[in-house]
Amino acid sequence: MEVRVLCFFLLILPCFVKTESNSPIYNVMDYGAHGDGHTDDTKAFMKAWEAACSSSSSSSPTMHVPSEMTFMIQPLYFRGECDPKQIDVEINGNIIAPKDPSDWTCHDGCREWIHFEHVDGLRVYGSGTINGQGQKWWDLNALKISNSNNVYLTSLTFKDNPRVHVDLQSSKSVFISNLSIDAPEDSPNTDGDDCISMVDGSSNIQISNIACGPGHGISVGSLGKHGAEDKVEDIHVSDVVFTGTTNGARIKTWQNTAVQVSNVIFREFLGTSKKETAVMLDCSEAAPCTDITLDNIYLRTTHGHNAKSVNNNAHGRTQGLVVPEIPLS
Ligand SMILES: *[C@@H]1O[C@H](CO)[C@@H](O)[C@H](O)[C@H]1NC(C)=O
Repeated sequence: MEVRVLCFFLLILPCFVKTESNSPIYNVMDYGAHGDGHTDDTKAFMKAWEAACSSSSSSSPTMHVPSEMTFMIQPLYFRGECDPKQIDVEINGNIIAPKDPSDWTCHDGCREWIHFEHVDGLRVYGSGTINGQGQKWWDLNALKISNSNNVYLTSLTFKDNPRVHVDLQSSKSVFISNLSIDAPEDSPNTDGDDCISMVDGSSNIQISNIACGPGHGISVGSLGKHGAEDKVEDIHVSDVVFTGTTNGARIKTWQNTAVQVSNVIFREFLGTSKKETAVMLDCSEAAPCTDITLDNIYLRTTHGHNAKSVNNNAHGRTQGLVVPEIPLS
């Protein structure tokens, strides 16, 4: 019996070992990171990324940020195109921004803290925390993903980030789930920060299982600045708990005729609203919103009173219980 078990292990084990050794791991510690919370680890992160990005291994490389350590990093620009078809970034430790950004060197005028661009096939996940430390003088988005496809972003915690926590631009097939995004209400920087924001050129975006708040909720846009044509389509947001956010789900456009909002379903919105107006469909006369569905909405004010709705130029239908009542036709 013992021998049989041993054989079993001997046969199976080499397979796992082989898979593991084929999947190279680029640990930031091997590239000079300190993880002590105050030494600047930016260069080590860049080197680990560059090594993963140019890996010639046939299986996907992993850039690894170990747990139980804190890494202070300046704005990081993770740029593709990468050689491997897929890159994993496993963040188990805590990433913090420097307290004093006065000597930052940024590639794009410091609009993003961590920016992935031109990456096709990216998974960012882990038990770690992305913590901006709530410095109100930063005008940065915490994590930006642009011009990238097939991106998975899961399981991370975002805390006290300066502006938008997760910003998507010109990216296709992005799957975001199981994130906890929070900025305490007493943080100095809660104005202007969306949990997740999607701007021009994003399509096939799936967002689910998110805890968001306080902050500004989840938003598409603003679209159509300066009359530009922006296309955002096939966006699915589900299973989100908004706590203390100024808005829940929002589609924002500029006041011009370049942006047409249509085929939007708001389904199963349950909760309370601090503002009396809980539902606002505010479309322009020149470009009315069409094919809007409200299905099973039940929103009251935080004081337990009836909430109100506003509808300007939105057309569509209601289904199931819709409270507050919204005339849509
Ligand atoms: C969700 O994220 C938490 C925190 O990182 C993690 O512990 C948990 O395993 C994740 N759940 C799933 C289903 O991925």
